[in-house]
Parts: sequence; structure tokens; C-alpha cells
Amino acid sequence: MGRVERNPGKTVLNKKAKTAYVCNNCGQDFSKWRGKCDNCGAWDTVVEIKIAAGKRNRSSSVPLVPAQPRMLGECSVDSSPRIHCGFPEIDRVLGGGLVRGAFILLGGDPGIGKSTLLLQLSASLAATSSMNAMYISGEESTEQVSLRASRLKVLDSPLAVFTETSVQMILQVISDHKPELVIVDSIQTIYTEDLESAPGSVAQIRECTAELLKYAKTSGTVFFLIGHVTKDGVIAGPRLLEHMVDTVLYFEGDSGYQYRLLRAVKNRFGPTGEIALLSMSDSGLQEVSQASEFFLTNRYSPQPGTSVGAILEGSRILVVELQALVNHSHFGIPQRVASGINPKKLSLLLAVLERHGGIVLGDHDIFFNVAGGLTVSEPSIDICIAASVLSSFRNKPLKHDMALIGEIGLGGEVRPVGNMGARIKELTHLGFKHCVVPQPSKSAEWFSSSSDIQLLPCKKVGNLSDLVFE
Ligand code: TYD
Ligand code: MG
Repeated sequence: MGRVERNPGKTVLNKKAKTAYVCNNCGQDFSKWRGKCDNCGAWDTVVEIKIAAGKRNRSSSVPLVPAQPRMLGECSVDSSPRIHCGFPEIDRVLGGGLVRGAFILLGGDPGIGKSTLLLQLSASLAATSSMNAMYISGEESTEQVSLRASRLKVLDSPLAVFTETSVQMILQVISDHKPELVIVDSIQTIYTEDLESAPGSVAQIRECTAELLKYAKTSGTVFFLIGHVTKDGVIAGPRLLEHMVDTVLYFEGDSGYQYRLLRAVKNRFGPTGEIALLSMSDSGLQEVSQASEFFLTNRYSPQPGTSVGAILEGSRILVVELQALVNHSHFGIPQRVASGINPKKLSLLLAVLERHGGIVLGDHDIFFNVAGGLTVSEPSIDICIAASVLSSFRNKPLKHDMALIGEIGLGGEVRPVGNMGARIKELTHLGFKHCVVPQPSKSAEWFSSSSDIQLLPCKKVGNLSDLVFE
């Protein structure tokens, strides 16, 4: 095996043959073919890519101006004001608005609404911020885009639309028209004539992104690229794509439900983990203003097995409803079905409940669900899962207007979680009257300052049933 060239941004060329070898899995370059990628360990992923002779070093026809070094103070954030996109929630996810020259990648499942979101966003920016915006589609014809625009009621917005898949042509058009905002739908359909591999291959994605990035950074144009995701939910193509861009946004949700979450997983211009809650309607996406209570449905009719928790998503608190159904099992092996939480977490908490909570669940089927199709991985809902199971097992609803916050350890202890103050404030705001919380430390401010909600400290999961039932 030869030496690995650790130079992922640049394709290594075999000078004579004008070929390069790239791993389709991780994007690593090699000068020779090999069966196993030395970088990521995957087998049979290294492919040969042909570079059209003589064209490799011919970059785009855009004249590039060399960047001039500037003093740090001159390039401070104040000198590049944020552009507001007309959706306050999305501005928040972007760290306060768009920055000139930002290069943003939006990933998400097919049909989740990526094209819809960016068409609405660009139309809104073109109309309200009078930004010169251009929507380039490699997937749909201009007629299809305008059909969608009429459905979204943005037909009269001054947004330029065209269909193109060659990156050279795209660069030529954008350097002629000089738009301030460009949407590329999607990066997997764009190809460069300099490479002979098919559009969507690692080499193509990488080269096209690099060409567009070069243009964005020298011209100050804001770019949004749509990226398809693989079965595992990561953006197709090498991870490298995520390293190259400034911001990576994921558009999530269950297409069976109307809500969608826009989440920043990488952001050079603001905090990550921020989410925006949107809902898909007949006329496109709308922001959900009452996000914190969006997932509460059974609030006023308590049922056995239902509990409420307050989870932290970015800087936002979402109040969610969790449901468990515990039934006597009629077969040898009891079923454990969990949706919206990790099934292993459910098994772990059931083991803790059995050992420290005094209930035996070995002969019961247990089904678990997070209402609204949300997926929660935060530990603060541990105690809600335990309370839901307990409540369904006893067939008794929890106290009216009660929420629970706390992580559960293997010893059955209820552990503290972060941001208690914000969680309790949000629950109080929504009118909850009782909240089971971890045992506060002496100096815990959140415990002494809450007066409108009764806080019930719980040390051990074994004490839970004394606190949660009427
Ligand atoms: P789309 O933006 O094409 O998804 P993606 O680009 O992520 O593949 O969204 C397609 C889905 O959105 C489709 O199932 C129909 C639905 N939709 C609405 O419900 N309302 C609308 O106004 C629009 C335009 C689409
Ligand atoms: Mg699309």
C-alpha cells in the first residue's frame, strides 16, 4: 500500500494519464487505485476519475480579484450587517440573519420541503430586502418552479429563475447578472466539465462546491446549496462538503406530520443546535409562533401513561408530551416498542424502574411514543419516561397540570440537568402548576425564585409514585 496523500481539498493527479483516485465514502485522494481506503477503511470505494485533458487548471471564466489583507478591526461583524430574511425564526437559526458571502448547505430527506423553503426564503428576500436573488434549479424546469411559486403566492416577487446543471454555465450567468443571493437546487445535480465522472459523484460534488465557494468568497454573494441525504440521514457525498461550507442546516420532520424543524448543525456565524419550528400547509411553510406548546395535545384531558417534559433545543424550550402503554403480554417474550426515543434508553429505564421503582415489568408489553412525531435525545425526559410507564402500569393519570424534569441514573437517583430556570419559566408561562424536579443544591436559584409553580424535588425514582399521583 502506498503513502496516503492527506490533502482532501485538492485532487491528486496522475500527470501522464490525467486520472485521479478518490474514495467515494470519505473523499480521500490517492495517486493509485486500491481496494481498501486507507483513510476511512471502507472496501471497494476508491474510484478512478478522469480529468479532461488540458482543462484541469482552467478555472472558471470569472475573473478573480486577489483578496487584500485587512486589519482585524476592519473586518469586524459590524462592518458586515446581517440581512434579515423575513422569517425571524430562520434568522435566529442562522445566528441573527444572513452574512454576505455566507455559504450555506441545506440537507434533508426527499420531499421534506427543502425546495419549498428556499423558494419562499429567496422570494421573501428579493421582495422585502430588495436583494438581487437567483434560483438555479438542476432538478425542475422553470415552469415547475413557477408553478410552485404560484402555489406559494410569491409569483410577483422579483426572483430570477433558471435551469442549469453545468457549473461553468452557472458561474458565467451569475458573473453576468451579479445576484446577491444564489440558490442551487441541488448540488448533486450540478457537474463540472473538467471532470468526466457522473454528476452526484464525490469528485463532482467536491469540485463544483469548490468552484462556487471560490466565487462566493470573492464576490460576497450568499449561496444556499441544497444537498440530498443518504439513507443514514447524512448529506450525500463526502463529509468534506460539510467542512467546506460555513453553515450546515438540516431540515427534519416526519412527512406524515405537518411540522418541520430547521436545525443548524454547524454555523460559523452563530451558535449551533438552534432550531426553527415551521409547519407545512397548502400554501407553503409557515413559522409556528407558539412553538413551546405546539406538541401538547392531551393537556386538558389527562390520560394514564401520558406525561409532560420540557426539553432544550438550542436556546429554545419545547414542552413535549410522552406516552407509554403497558399491557399484559400474551406471548413468551414481551415486546418493547419505542418511537421518538432510543429503544435502548427505554430498556435501560425499565431495568432501573424494576430494580429501584418496585414494579415488575417482565411480563408486560411496553409501547412508547413521543407525541407529534418528535425525536428526543435529551436526558431530561428520563423521569417523564419512568412516570409514563408507572402511570400506564397503574392505569392512573398523573396529577393535572404536572410536568417532570430530570435525568435518571443507574442507581435510581434523579440527577440535575442544565437550564432548569428556563425550563421552569416556560412551564409556568404555559400554566403548569406542579413540576417534579431533581433535588436542588443549596444555592440553586431556580428553586427559590419560582413561586407560581409547585416544585416537587425527587431524589430517587422510588419516590416518584408518591409525588405524581393525586
Ligand atoms: P419539496 O420542497 O419539493 O421537497 P424537497 O425539495 O425537500 O424534495 O416539497 C415537496 C412536498 O411538500 C410535497 O410532498 C408537497 C408538499 N408541499 C405542501 O404541502 N405545500 C406546498 O405549498 C408545497 C409547495 C409543497
Ligand atoms: Mg427539491
